[in-house]
Amino acid sequence: MEVPLSLSQPATSAPSNSGLKSMADYKVLKEIGEGSFSIVYHAVEKEGAQRDVAIKMCLKKQIIRDKRVKYVHREKSALALLSTGDNWHPSIVTLYATFQDAENLFFVLSYAKYHDLLHIILQQPDKHLNFNDSVYYSAMLLDALNHCHKLGVVHRDVKPENLLVKNDGRIMLTDFGSSMFIEEHEKEYTQNGRRASFVGTAQFVCPEMLTGGKLGTASDIWSFAVVIFQFLTGDHAFHDESEYLIFRRVQDILFKYPEGFNDLAKDLIDKILFIDPEKRLKYSEIIVHPFFENIDFSSLQSIEPPKIY
Ligand code: ADE
Repeated sequence: MEVPLSLSQPATSAPSNSGLKSMADYKVLKEIGEGSFSIVYHAVEKEGAQRDVAIKMCLKKQIIRDKRVKYVHREKSALALLSTGDNWHPSIVTLYATFQDAENLFFVLSYAKYHDLLHIILQQPDKHLNFNDSVYYSAMLLDALNHCHKLGVVHRDVKPENLLVKNDGRIMLTDFGSSMFIEEHEKEYTQNGRRASFVGTAQFVCPEMLTGGKLGTASDIWSFAVVIFQFLTGDHAFHDESEYLIFRRVQDILFKYPEGFNDLAKDLIDKILFIDPEKRLKYSEIIVHPFFENIDFSSLQSIEPPKIY
């Protein structure tokens, strides 16, 4: 029996010429990732451009059991919006197709050949990135976030693990399973007084997520600052033995810069990590901060990316 969750027309009722894809359209090469309700495969298209793709297969039963239905729908809506026509962005994962069978939902995504940035950080001799690479990846991330924000999407799970490295060394932001639409959130928040439930990752979460405050683009900017700290040090700014203790640190902005931490990065992070989202630097202010003095945000894609291997 088919589980009543739909990302597209049920495959069973789709006419054969509908253009709807199925697993038969792809040659699966290997498993490349696993989550609590999904498995990701590397595959290639059998026909046409024969692109490399990542197929995320989500188990419907598990999504329903974990009460993730709303989030899976949002992931699809956000990715579809960000993958359409002029909205497409080179630093954001592209959704090529969705389809389903009786047990699973499938997302066909642009493929990133290398690991995520957390793996890359851990592979460095000192287990952190050098200053120039940190500036480069931070600029690419900020540009991707700004693009999402302009389209009304807040990612809400910004972290190095969600930045995948493509074969040209450039990165793309992935995993929109925690994302929200600003307009929808503001309506629920203001009209219905409904607070967002916790999503994201403890070490990167913004204070307003913990206190039931209003979320917005500044929520991703908080995580962006925490990511810069991790790029440069290899450590989490907010680190402790339990999630509860991490949350307390976040709410007290309790963290320490290590000896020798770059002054420009410190100044930038200090101007972002405020409890009040209104006080945090905004995109237009961040791109002119001296941390990014060597970056031309109007031609980011023409910057030579760091060598990965
Ligand atoms: N793991 C999760 N998504 C991926 C993608 N788009 N490419 C490569 N690996 C992934």
